[in-house]
Amino acid sequence: MNDNQSHYIPGLEGVVAAQTRLSHVDGEAGELVIAGFPLEEIAPRAAFEEMVYLLWSGELPTARQLEEFRFLLAENSRLPAAVLDVLRAAASTGVDSMEALRMTAGLLSLDLPSDSQGWAQDAALLARLPVMAATWWRLRSGLQPLEPPPGMGLASSYLYMLRGSEPHPAHVRALETYLNTVIDHGLNASTFTARVIISTGSDLVSALVGAIGALKGPLHGGAPGPALQMVFEIGDPDQAEAYLRKKLESGERLMGFGHRVYKVRDPRADVLAAAAETLYRQAGDMRLYELARAVERKALELLEEYKPGRRLQTNVEFYTALLLHGLEIPLELFTPTFTISRAAGWIAHCREQQRENRLIRPQSQYTGPRDRRWVPLEKRTESSGAS
Ligand code: COA
Repeated sequence: MNDNQSHYIPGLEGVVAAQTRLSHVDGEAGELVIAGFPLEEIAPRAAFEEMVYLLWSGELPTARQLEEFRFLLAENSRLPAAVLDVLRAAASTGVDSMEALRMTAGLLSLDLPSDSQGWAQDAALLARLPVMAATWWRLRSGLQPLEPPPGMGLASSYLYMLRGSEPHPAHVRALETYLNTVIDHGLNASTFTARVIISTGSDLVSALVGAIGALKGPLHGGAPGPALQMVFEIGDPDQAEAYLRKKLESGERLMGFGHRVYKVRDPRADVLAAAAETLYRQAGDMRLYELARAVERKALELLEEYKPGRRLQTNVEFYTALLLHGLEIPLELFTPTFTISRAAGWIAHCREQQRENRLIRPQSQYTGPRDRRWVPLEKRTESSGAS
């Protein structure tokens, strides 16, 4: 056993691999701080652009700065023609939403402001994502894509492009609360991916493509769709116990529960549960909200029974699903909507990494064979171990 072996930590759990001023996750206290603000303080109040500005500059914008920033995002939101072509091909061949985003994110290099023009490149990458997601959805639904209307904020314009009509302010507020809540979260897997890529001296588009690939997995950003499907399949609070027991007995994971860092309730779940409650109450139909609450209670009880001591709690994805569904955002766009927000965090992390860069290059522990001898091709057989 050498030094490397004694330091191996599967999944890098608990390893500190970056210093950041962007966000802090306290998994034992159940706290999330974004650039100095407790999540509950800022997420329900800020416009999404204010939150992005805060992450990118360290300070909240003044009214004038906010207006200029909105203008910068809007003027950089136009998609290159090739992106539209690929989205059309993706929609017509059944390529899923996150694959469509990952494929077309790489094409954004075709028409990107230079990296030396202040925030223009960062703004272009961020502002085009909602247009790409909404365009994919409209094409997939047999509808003409819509351009972002001038003068609308990013959240309103995303809802407008999906629905074809101006959204109610309460819906815009709920979406902004969601986007603010998931914008950054310490060194999560996709943010780490982005920082690793940028640390090699690579570019922001490459980091974005890699991070989208990391986010789409069900252990990271791909969970809210399955979480909502589970609530729909349960359908009635009286069915929750039998349904959940069956899943746990067959060794399946309950989507929307458990977290690598939080060992108490994810504070983002509370912010989103409150936003979902307001939204469903305003809509005058609390049935789905109450069903989800009942499923959550039963799931927590059974997780304690089947996985005692693992401290599995509700995570952000459970209430993400409920909130986005209440906003009439289709299930296929849950993870792309997450991407729109988290991209602002990825960009902030990339810029931070560039300022203080040191190549991220950990080590591995070799567990393969040693001292093997070369066998010429004509003498190899499957039993000689040459396969
Ligand atoms: N449902 C059932 N069991 C779960 C579980 C879940 N959602 N999450 C973790 N567990 C169990 C594991 O099976 C494991 O059990 P074991 O000790 O008997 O082997 C134990 O809890 C520890 O899990 P582990 O895989 O070490 O946790 P992790 O830190 O690697 O995983 C997640 C964190 C998020 C990947 C995991 O909780 C998960 O898969 N959750 C469901 C997917 C999800 O909601 N993802 C969104 C995350 S924000």
